[in-house]
Amino acid sequence: MTDVRQTDDGNGAAVIAKLFRSDQGGHEQVVLCQDRPTGLRAVIAVHSTALGPALGGTRFHAYASDEEAVDDALNLSRGMSYKNALAGLDHGGGKAVLIGDPDAFKTEELLLAYGRFVASLGGRYVTACDVGTYVADMDVVARENRWTTGRSPEHGGAGDSSVLTAFGVFQGMRAAAQARWGEPTLRGRRVGVAGVGKVGHHLVGHLVDDGAEVVVTDVRTDAVARITARHPGVTAVESAEKLVRTPLDVYAPCALGGALDDATVAALTATVVCGAANNQLAHPGVEKDLADRGILYAPDYVVNAGGVIQVADELHGFDFERARAKAAKIHDTTLAIFERARTDGVPPAVAADRLAEQRMADRTPAAEWLRPSLG
Ligand SMILES: NC(=O)c1ccc[n+]([C@@H]2O[C@H](COP(=O)([O-])OP(=O)(O)OC[C@H]3O[C@@H](n4cnc5c(N)ncnc54)[C@H](O)[C@@H]3O)[C@@H](O)[C@H]2O)c1
Repeated sequence: MTDVRQTDDGNGAAVIAKLFRSDQGGHEQVVLCQDRPTGLRAVIAVHSTALGPALGGTRFHAYASDEEAVDDALNLSRGMSYKNALAGLDHGGGKAVLIGDPDAFKTEELLLAYGRFVASLGGRYVTACDVGTYVADMDVVARENRWTTGRSPEHGGAGDSSVLTAFGVFQGMRAAAQARWGEPTLRGRRVGVAGVGKVGHHLVGHLVDDGAEVVVTDVRTDAVARITARHPGVTAVESAEKLVRTPLDVYAPCALGGALDDATVAALTATVVCGAANNQLAHPGVEKDLADRGILYAPDYVVNAGGVIQVADELHGFDFERARAKAAKIHDTTLAIFERARTDGVPPAVAADRLAEQRMADRTPAAEWLRPSLG
């Protein structure tokens, strides 16, 4: 018989140490999954079920190492706990990562095997799409369990989540306008949108309808052309670097993560930042630099929660109006974060984390948490 201690080359110990490390937020459960026939290797991380079943997407990515995959699952699932808490959902945070290049590894059999692992958790983890997985993939995963959302309308799902994500970002921006200029409208403000893909182009529509002057940029000329054809009053500049230097009231990063780095923060003309992109702060400390420059930052994971609100709603049979009403609450939540930031004397990103931690510690049900104290 093999002595497991002899086969442990040290990596196993390192992974376990990370799992229980308190600065990772003390995860409840991490499952390592392997299905040899299909080549599936996956990590499912359940950070917290304090508020309900852990909810978060499935990322399919060619990680440089297995440790990096575990790290990503730990970080992303922790982030989902905070996001779901402030989205007013009765869900904790979870995330799964499938290891490997999706172009090379993704097969129906592999997705079905993954679906059986999700089933094995008996509802403690609810999955959805993330980078590298799509609505059609969730239709396959859902064949093996009841805990898959983000499916296509043909399979009982809600489909593309960008409509409600954009709506939620717009609500967060209205709250920022209220906090900055005393009125919850972007009318007469100049808003720069960096990235006019699925979310950005819907956001531009809300801004134009609200009477804002909009300037956009995108690395794809066809994305810009689609916007300017639909909204002739919208202008475009050639790069995000140029956009941040253009006179603006609001800057909305809606492309990739890390948009707010030191150079961008130093160059920003806008006094409000509110956009859809995930992980906008390039490194810890940027939230303070923004505050020091007098720039009001609406935390990304708060304002871009419309998508997760949509997939959570789908679990109860999707009702667009019900999900939209919940996404509208992003306005009140964002205002509450600005108020907490003011009273605690901290940047809004720190205030958001504190509010989320408070809700998780108190296990406040959504119905109670979303009551008038938040708007
Ligand atoms: N789709 C959702 O429901 C959702 C939910 C939450 C968060 N987000 C986040 O919002 C962001 C946008 O998501 P999406 O679904 O619209 O993605 P998308 O891929 O449809 O759009 C992104 C756009 O940004 C452009 N872009 C890329 N790099 C750029 C650069 N350097 N400068 C300018 N433009 C650039 C792309 O060409 C593309 O048009 C992402 O960070 C995503 O993680 C999306």
